[in-house]
Amino acid sequence: MITAGDLLAEGTGALAAAGIGNPRFEARLLLEAATGRSRARLVTEPAEPVPVHETQAFRALLARRATREPMAYILGRAEFWSLPFAVGPGVLVPRADTETLIEAALAAFPDRGRPLRLLDIGVGSGCLLLTLLHLFPNARGLGTDTSETALACTRRNAERLGVDSRLELVETAWAEGVSGPFDLVVSNPPYIPTAEIAGLEPEVSLFEPRAALNGGADGLDAYRAILPDLPRLLAPEGTALLEIGKDQEKVLIPMAEALGFAVTTRCDLADIVRCLRLLRPR
Ligand SMILES: C[S@@+](CC[C@H](N)C(=O)[O-])C[C@H]1O[C@@H](n2cnc3c(N)ncnc32)[C@H](O)[C@@H]1O
Repeated sequence: MITAGDLLAEGTGALAAAGIGNPRFEARLLLEAATGRSRARLVTEPAEPVPVHETQAFRALLARRATREPMAYILGRAEFWSLPFAVGPGVLVPRADTETLIEAALAAFPDRGRPLRLLDIGVGSGCLLLTLLHLFPNARGLGTDTSETALACTRRNAERLGVDSRLELVETAWAEGVSGPFDLVVSNPPYIPTAEIAGLEPEVSLFEPRAALNGGADGLDAYRAILPDLPRLLAPEGTALLEIGKDQEKVLIPMAEALGFAVTTRCDLADIVRCLRLLRPR
């Protein structure tokens, strides 16, 4: 009978051939998922036989990953700020870069007990808004999205994280029909210039929802829609935290300043400006 070690070797080879960067690591994760065995068991008992139905399940997962479907979709989960998020097709996979906005929020609101009113424009999996609700136990949050799939995913994640009683979700474009005021508005809107999407990793260009990526010709369409609405949405002393793409601050800071905002920036772990902090004009 085929052993766990045989399958790990087979999977590593298949994923390497598909151009995947960390094939042994990913093959092991898929083997854990298909067999229900722990990492420790797979490592210490490589000679253990694997039944046929588990072998077939593993090969089915491998075949999906070999098409470059994201691991997060195959496993149905991703981690953000060390919290578990369910994700699947139709919902952007949470990115480590986006944690920069959580860092910025914690720096902007050091009192974790504050009853903050939060708005997340383009809530996706809920990673930003639900993490904030988890970190600020007296906060309440409203999330918007145009994707029903995303809103359903946020709802599910909110229930799993136990923050659903403080959450409201609205299907709308940006913040249309939403009335403030909010102490903190966060948004990680689509910001990839349309022509660049096809050149991204296949996991992104072939599998992630285009509406979560496509920022229009120069990548800035969403900011043009959101920025002029922020004075209406923000409370006095309110703050907006916006995720941006590489070098987009060069255009977006002057755009925000022209609307009267005071702007500061925060870099991600690669030292790229990833977050703009906007203070409401007085
Ligand atoms: C880059 S994703 C971010 C998702 C999530 N906030 C995160 O950080 O992972 C952008 C999200 O904006 C949503 N979106 C796109 N166009 C929108 C619009 N006009 N109004 C509201 N949401 C929109 C997409 O469906 C997607 O969920």
